[in-house]
Parts: sequence; C-alpha cells; structure tokens
Amino acid sequence: MEERSRRTFLNRLTGAVVGLGAVVTGWPMLRSLFPNILYEPPRRFSIGLPASFPQGVTFLDERRIFVFRQNNQFHIVSGICTHLGCTVKFAPFPQERELTVRNYTFQAAGEFHCPCHGSKFHEDGTNYSGPAPRPLQWYQVEMSPNNGELLVDLSQEVDRDFRLVV
Ligand code: FES
Repeated sequence: MEERSRRTFLNRLTGAVVGLGAVVTGWPMLRSLFPNILYEPPRRFSIGLPASFPQGVTFLDERRIFVFRQNNQFHIVSGICTHLGCTVKFAPFPQERELTVRNYTFQAAGEFHCPCHGSKFHEDGTNYSGPAPRPLQWYQVEMSPNNGELLVDLSQEVDRDFRLVV
C-alpha cells in the first residue's frame, strides 16, 4: 500500500516538473507569435481653428506644446524640457521686454521654467540656466486645406524665426 502511494506521488511530481518545463520553454515561442507594438499618439494632429486661440500663449497639456499667437501669426514651442523631459511652465513677465538671443531680437512676454531641476529658457526656447543642454524645440504648424484648422507636426522641427501667417 505504501509502495503504491509513493509511486503515485512520484508520478505526480514527475508530471508537475514536465508540465512546468513545457510552460517555461513554450512561453517564449507562444509570445513570439504576437508582435511587439508600441502604440503612440500620432505625431501630426489638429489643434483646432486659429480663431479658437487667444492672443498670447496657450498651453495644450495633453500635447505638451505651447501655442503662440501674435495677431495672425502662430508658432509652436515644445513644453518638454531638454534635460530629462519634465514639462516646463511659462512664466509671464510683468511687462514685455526686448531680448536679443543668439543674434535674434524679439519682444518677449515671458520665459520658460522647468520645475524639476531649475532649467530656464528664453521665450524663443533658448536654454540659459540650469542643466538643460539644448533649446526647446519648435514644431511645424500649418493650416489644413480641408477645414482651416491648425495642424501640428511633431516630427518636423522648424527654426525659431518660423511663423505661420493665417
Ligand atoms: S528635467 Fe528640466 S531641468 Fe531637469
């Protein structure tokens, strides 16, 4: 009787070990049948009609971009700090001031501050303080020929003198 129960136990143990081995070796093969796809939001998207933006700076937090409007001119500045990717904040000046940065003169209404490690950027995106190694990116924006909405393309960087005139 004892011999039989010992045999049963050993049979079950063997079955469990073989089953575990099959799972361990078979899982990678099963997993390889499914592609590794990373679903990312589209790099080109509409942000609405030009008239829906007030004069000045509007932050679109779901896209992490700043939309600048000056009369009928638009440009887009990234809200992603070039140090470690935190979202920068726009800090308005009490009064507009004229700045010359990298041989480029413009009227600045404020500047960008990064809350993570203190980097600061001029309004044109140029980094001037803190650990950020590069300026904030500027992105392509154009008007859709279909419905007149603004189309931002995060895959296309533009120079800081770019303006879309609508
Ligand atoms: S992430 Fe902006 S300063 Fe570090």
